[in-house]
Amino acid sequence: MADPLILAGSGSARTPASDPDDQNPDPVGERAPVDSPPVSGPNTSYDPVEVAALAPEAVESAVDAALSAIAQADSLEDLKAIRPAHQGDKSPLALANREIGALPPSAKADAGKRVGQARGRVGQAFAARQAELEAERDERVLREETLDLTQTSGRRPLGRRHPIELMSQRIADLFVGMGWEIAEGPEVEAEWFNFDALNFDADHPARQMQDTFYVDPRERGLILRTHTSPVQARAMLERGVPLYVAAIGRVFRTDELDATHMPAFHQVEGLAVDEGITMAHLKGTLDRLATELFGEGITTRLRPSFFPFTEPSAEMDLRCFVCRGEDAACRTCGGTGWIEWGGCGMVNRNVLTAVGVDPDRYTGFAFGMGIDRALMFRTGVSDMRDMIEGDVRFDAQFGMEI
Ligand code: DAH
Repeated sequence: MADPLILAGSGSARTPASDPDDQNPDPVGERAPVDSPPVSGPNTSYDPVEVAALAPEAVESAVDAALSAIAQADSLEDLKAIRPAHQGDKSPLALANREIGALPPSAKADAGKRVGQARGRVGQAFAARQAELEAERDERVLREETLDLTQTSGRRPLGRRHPIELMSQRIADLFVGMGWEIAEGPEVEAEWFNFDALNFDADHPARQMQDTFYVDPRERGLILRTHTSPVQARAMLERGVPLYVAAIGRVFRTDELDATHMPAFHQVEGLAVDEGITMAHLKGTLDRLATELFGEGITTRLRPSFFPFTEPSAEMDLRCFVCRGEDAACRTCGGTGWIEWGGCGMVNRNVLTAVGVDPDRYTGFAFGMGIDRALMFRTGVSDMRDMIEGDVRFDAQFGMEI
C-alpha cells in the first residue's frame, strides 16, 4: 500500500481498503504536496487540500494534450501508439480518476463530474478520429484496388508447337503404334558412326569439309552428324537384334541457307533387322508412313539408287499431289510428276558385320526421309527459311495438335 492520502483538517479515520476506487493506489506517489503536517482531529472543514492531479487546470491540460495528440495522429497506427499516454492506466486522467476515491464526499461529486467529463471527451475524440481514419483507409483501399471490369485485356497470343515438331511427333506415334522403338543419337557424332560404320570409303566425297561440319580439332574425329543413319549402328550395338527402331532428329550439312536448302534440317531414320526381312517389308512400311503424312491415296515409287550402307538401294518418290504428273510446268515437282522424299534399301552386309550382327542369319531394311521436305510438300510452304525464323504467326497456321 502507498502512503495514505493526507487531508489537512481531516480527522476522518479513513479505511482505504473499504473504498472501491482505491483498489489500485498510485505506486508512483504523484500526490498533492503536503504543506502542513498531518493533522488528526475532528473533521470539521471537509476542505480538501488541492490534489494536483485533480486541479481543473491539470484536468483541462490533460484533455488538451490528448485532443491535440489525437488531432495530429494521421494514421491508425499513430492513433494506436498515442492511446496509452492519454487513456491508459498511467495516463494523467486515469491517475486523476483514481484520486477521486480518496476525496471527502463533498468534493467527490464535483471532481468526479469533471474527471468523468474529461475522460468522456477524450474517449469520444479517440473514437471519432478512429472512425475518421478507418473511413480514410477504407476509401484508399477501395481506390487502390479498384478493378475496371469493363476494361478489355491485352490479348496475349498463345505459343505454338513448331510444325516440324508436330510432324515429328506424328511420325514417332505411327512407329510406336506399329511396335517399333524410338532411338536417339548425338548431334555431335563420331566420324566413325557417321561414315565408317556405314561403309563409306575413306575417300567418299561426303567426308569432304565442304559437305560436312567438322569439330575442331579435326583429329578428334567429331562432326555434326550429316544424317540420322549413325543411329542405325548405335542402336544395333546397344540393343542387339532383332530390332525395329525409328530415330527422328536434326542433321547438318554445309549448305547455304536458301529457299530450298538449310544447313540444319530433320530426318526420320528407320531400321528393321530380323530374320526374313525383305524389300517388300520396306515398301509396305514406307507406304504406311506416306499415307500417315500425306493422306490416303498417295502414290509412291521406288527408284534404283546408291548408298554405301544399303544394297540394293533406292530413292522413294511421291507422286506430285499438285499436278499428279499432268503439268509439265508444275512448280512443286518441277514438271517431273514426282517428288524425291528420301533414300532407303536393304542394310548392307558390311554394316551388319561392322556391328557384330551375322548377315547370313539376319537381313534388314533402312530408310531416311526428310521431314522438312515432307512438311513443305504437305502444306505448300515454299520457302524453307520460314521454318527456322521462329515467328509464331508461321507456327500458328498449322493449328493445334495434341
Ligand atoms: N542417310 C541418307 C541421306 O541422308 C538417307 C538414307 C538412305 C537413309 C538410305 C537410309 C538408307 O537409312 O537406307 O541421304
